[in-house]
Amino acid sequence: MSRTPLIVGNWKMFKTIAETTDFCRGLKEETTGLDEKQVGVAVAPPFTALSAAAQALRGSLISVAAQDVFWAETGAYTGEVSPKMLADAGCRFAIIGHSERRQYFHETDDSVNKKAAALIKEGLIPILCLGETLADRQGGSTFAVVERETREGLKGLSVRDPGKLVVAYEPVWAIGTGQTATPNQAQEVQAFIRKLVAEILSPPMAQGVRILYGGSVKPENIVELMTMNDVDGALVGGASLDVKSFSRIVSGSISR
Ligand code: PGA
Repeated sequence: MSRTPLIVGNWKMFKTIAETTDFCRGLKEETTGLDEKQVGVAVAPPFTALSAAAQALRGSLISVAAQDVFWAETGAYTGEVSPKMLADAGCRFAIIGHSERRQYFHETDDSVNKKAAALIKEGLIPILCLGETLADRQGGSTFAVVERETREGLKGLSVRDPGKLVVAYEPVWAIGTGQTATPNQAQEVQAFIRKLVAEILSPPMAQGVRILYGGSVKPENIVELMTMNDVDGALVGGASLDVKSFSRIVSGSISR
């Protein structure tokens, strides 16, 4: 298995600039000694703290991710932030299509696709989130929903380097609920996503792209999740807000 694990902390609407700097210094300390051949690590603070995070993490293996982006380069789009602005603030990744954005902020498959293309054009790495709701799962449409979100999200992307794209499978019923998908549930869907990536992009992209699992990941369940072939890391919400628990997830991911 040549895919290096990737652990991303999605802070959502938490932490001020001062709290971000503290956290990043602490995380840098906790991860000294690790190198990027073993694991990739990123934190996704709110927009206001991106550049403070980048500064505090300089010289470490930890990267900075944004939690969203808008696809235009510049323009009259009050409240929006472009890929170039994220790069300027020190970001390497941007999360797009998170279920909270789909649910509360009218994010659609089409807007997610435009955001992915704009990020790739700027040399930033999209972390494309997708996943079924509880109603989808109970109604037997998990695979149909995941297929639609994957096909629409990746449509027409010009990306040949698998290191330049990340997909995150996040079953909505597992986010913030404490109810983690079982390793087999995650594996089943993530293997399916990988097959779709081969069709939509290319077999080498499918082979190398990292597919993360997200939804109530904790230090206690990361090791088991990482035993699955198609689980290449995690997108962590709640448990990423504390340096100790996030560091334990990072070290747990290396075990595979
Ligand atoms: P959670 O969130 O780890 O708190 O379930 C995951 C996410 O929303 O990315």
